[in-house]
Order: sequence, then C-alpha cells, then structure tokens
Amino acid sequence: MRIVLVGPPGAGKGTQATRLAETLQIPHISTGDLFRANISQQTELGKLAKSYMDAGNLVPDEVTIAMAKDRMEQPDAEGGFLLDGFPRNVSQAEALDELLETEDMKLDAVLDLEAPEDEVVKRIAGRRVCRNDSAHVFHVTYTPPKKEGVCDVCGGELYQRDDDSEETVRKRLEVYHTQTEPIIDYYKSQGLVATIAATGPVDEVTRRALEALKRDQ
Ligand code: AP5
Repeated sequence: MRIVLVGPPGAGKGTQATRLAETLQIPHISTGDLFRANISQQTELGKLAKSYMDAGNLVPDEVTIAMAKDRMEQPDAEGGFLLDGFPRNVSQAEALDELLETEDMKLDAVLDLEAPEDEVVKRIAGRRVCRNDSAHVFHVTYTPPKKEGVCDVCGGELYQRDDDSEETVRKRLEVYHTQTEPIIDYYKSQGLVATIAATGPVDEVTRRALEALKRDQ
C-alpha cells in the first residue's frame, strides 16, 4: 500500500505511522525525521533545514522533494510506503503524483488525522523524543517512560525538540492551516481521503486508522 498521513503538528502522525508501518509491513518515511537525521549528522542539508524548522517554516520544496524522492526510490519502498509529513503543500503533492505516474504507481489512501488545537498544543508541550531513534516518542503525562528522561526501548536520552517551543508551535499550526490543509481538498478530488478522529487512547486511534484503510481498499 502507498499511504499519506496528514494532520496538524502533534496529531500523532509519527506515533501512528510507526504502528501502522509495522502492521502493514511497509517502511515509514518521515521527512521531519530525515531532516533531523541530517541535522544530527551536521550535513549541508541539515544546516539548511534547521534554519527553517527552528522558525516553524517549511523547508524549500526543491530540497524536500529531492530528499523524499531519493528515500522512496530505496529498495525497501518498492512494495509500498507510509509517508508522514510529506507532501506538505500542493506543489509537493503534484510532484509526488508526477513521480508515482512515472513509475506507473498510485496512492491507495490519504489518512487525515483530526485533533483539536488545544489537544495538539498539550501533546507537543509534553513530547519527549529519543536521541538514538526519533521513532521512539513519549509524552510526560500521556505515555511517560518508565524512567524519567530515558527511552524505554533502547535506553537513549530523551529530549525536547528545538521546534517544540510554544512560539514555534503556533507558527507551525499557522503553516499547517495555510499551506498543508489545502492538500486535503486536492486529495479529496481524487477520492483518496479517509478522515479519522486522532483523540483518545493511542491503540484506539490505530484501530480506527486500520479500519479506515480497510474500507478504502
Ligand atoms: P515533522 O517532524 O513532520 O513535524 P509535524 O508535522 O509538525 O508533526 P509532529 O512531529 O510535531 O507531530 P506528530 O503528528 O508526528 O505527533 P507525534 O506522534 O509525535 O516536521 C517538522 C518540521 O520539519 C516542519 O515544521 C518543517 O520545518 C520540516 N518539514 C518536515 N517535512 C517537510 C516537508 N514535507 N516540507 C517542508 N518542510 C518539512 O505525537 C505528539 C505527542 O503526542 C507525543 O508526545 C505522543 O506521545 C503524544 N500522543 C500521540 N498520540 C496520542 C494520543 N492518542 N493520546 C495522547 N498522546 C498522544
């Protein structure tokens, strides 16, 4: 399956993508995680991306599309993938369509995770991410690690993302509404969108997501 996950910052895209990718046996491709890996390796791309991410803005399309394309062309993504955080505006969605068309492929579904703004703000304020693997995500209240500051999965150090400050989160939400939400209509016109409530326990959201994907097949 080829799936796009869309939703505001803090809706739980990363949390759900990890679970869905495991169940569906497809790679989880997160452009945010790819940028963060570049930042920690101090690559030129990482240096460029950091200035945009810390301000809550989108990294320019040219570099983002090239990075996403490169990742989607890796052998493990031949049979499908779950995109998290890409596409993030209509130009990126058009670029993805073109790429898929060249390969004679198409998307199967766009899963739209809906969560109220006050809830996503609370989730982001309490989020802690593992330095070893950004797929290991916790929340100080909702899903706390057994030992404060330490990842349950690998023992790595948990930290708060630089772009999770209150001011940057407000900017990221504004960017989501103005630049990313329009892709939902873009994909609705292709009949691909399944909207689910991303509130309630994590397991319950996963159950809703799998149900919605089954309905769409
Ligand atoms: P990215 O990393 O994609 O961030 P985001 O879209 O803002 O989303 P988040 O990672 O903040 O949230 P999430 O929805 O994954 O929530 P999570 O599962 O962690 O992008 C970061 C930046 O990179 C962008 O601002 C941009 O600069 C750049 N970028 C990335 N892609 C780009 C692109 N395509 N084009 C241009 N620029 C790009 O959950 C949040 C918290 O809530 C966690 O603590 C979790 O434990 C908790 N939680 C999750 N589900 C639940 C639940 N059901 N109940 C209670 N708590 C929950």
